[in-house]
Amino acid sequence: MRTLNVALGSRSYPIHIGQDLFADPSLIQPFLKTRRVAIVTNDVVGPLYLKRLEEALDAADVSTSVAVLPDGEAHKDWQTLNLIFDKLLAERCERSTTLIALGGGVVGDMAGFAAATYQRGMPFIQIPTTLLSQVDSSVGGKTAINHPLGKNMIGAFYQPKLVLADIRTLDTLPDRELRAGLAEVIKYGLIRDPAFFEWLEGNLEKLLERDADALAFAVERSCANKAEVVAADETEQGERALLNLGHTFGHAIETGMGYGNWLHGEAVAAGTMMAAELSRLLGWLSSADIARIEALFGRAGLPVVGAKMPVEQYLDLMAHDKKVEAGKLRLVLLRQIGRAVIHGNSAAPMIASAITARCA
Ligand code: NAD
Ligand code: GLY
Repeated sequence: MRTLNVALGSRSYPIHIGQDLFADPSLIQPFLKTRRVAIVTNDVVGPLYLKRLEEALDAADVSTSVAVLPDGEAHKDWQTLNLIFDKLLAERCERSTTLIALGGGVVGDMAGFAAATYQRGMPFIQIPTTLLSQVDSSVGGKTAINHPLGKNMIGAFYQPKLVLADIRTLDTLPDRELRAGLAEVIKYGLIRDPAFFEWLEGNLEKLLERDADALAFAVERSCANKAEVVAADETEQGERALLNLGHTFGHAIETGMGYGNWLHGEAVAAGTMMAAELSRLLGWLSSADIARIEALFGRAGLPVVGAKMPVEQYLDLMAHDKKVEAGKLRLVLLRQIGRAVIHGNSAAPMIASAITARCA
């Protein structure tokens, strides 16, 4: 097992990365306030991993309540969030009960928001079970649900006490979901870690074959990057926004196409190609850089062009982005491979050209 630390003063927490982690109650127990937990999972992950977690907690004499949510991005909404509160209240969970999210980013984001708000905040542990959630969403304390007009529009910053990334859970992950997770892995190389980008160019097939050592390295390197950024800028006053490379375009695709039709990672890959194209139009990236990025996403089986949608609709949806300031769109762009910047001065026609160049 490898352990990283998210350094946030008194709210610092460890990320354990390894195999068969949540069968070991001694990793979880020190983080519980009382011998009571509520587990939030969904109807896909629950049948695979809930029993193992419950048995481990039971062996440590910890009692559990369980909320099983319907699966999918389409359920990342108020109604489904309320199912968590229904369970917590019906089973008289207390402010000291620890909430454990067992699942991918959808479960993690919703459980985290529930933990942030139930009785004004209860302790929270992330057990991410997708590549995307192990490399990104379980770390850093962003929690949210979607609104029909925009992705992740309602939420809170709320840090977990512990993240347990058990890479054995990736054995059961569908190929399409593994590939979607790779989009966020590639993102770290692009925004701040050129050596990692090169490593990915040399080792992508190992990740697709689910080589355990390669996966553990990619999860650790991604989390190390994310932990550094979050420690420097927890509430996204500056640098943290760089983690949103491709997301402004990508969120427009996810919202415009209907939540769940494009996977988040797929939309991020296509959105990153739009951001890269805009960076090329600004004279920052060369055509060779674009080809290199496109080749890596292509090898990962990710889309390199966005959904067919009128450019006006892209721009309208992008106007809801959380990085909009005083009505002005701020985009994460690439000065070079391995160095992202926030840019608030792209002319609308240039943004439209980048979208059109990378639109199906
Ligand atoms: P997801 O949670 O929908 O999981 C993908 C699918 O895999 C689901 O059907 C899920 O039930 C299934 N699944 C999960 N673990 C499995 C396993 N081990 N074996 C088999 N099936 C499994 O999607 P995701 O890609 O994990 O997360 C996407 C979400 O994360 C989006 O809502 C996105 O907005 C959010 N996100 C949040 C942050 C953040 O910082 N909070 C960062 C990135 C993404
Ligand atoms: N996934 C972007 C962030 O955590 O800031």
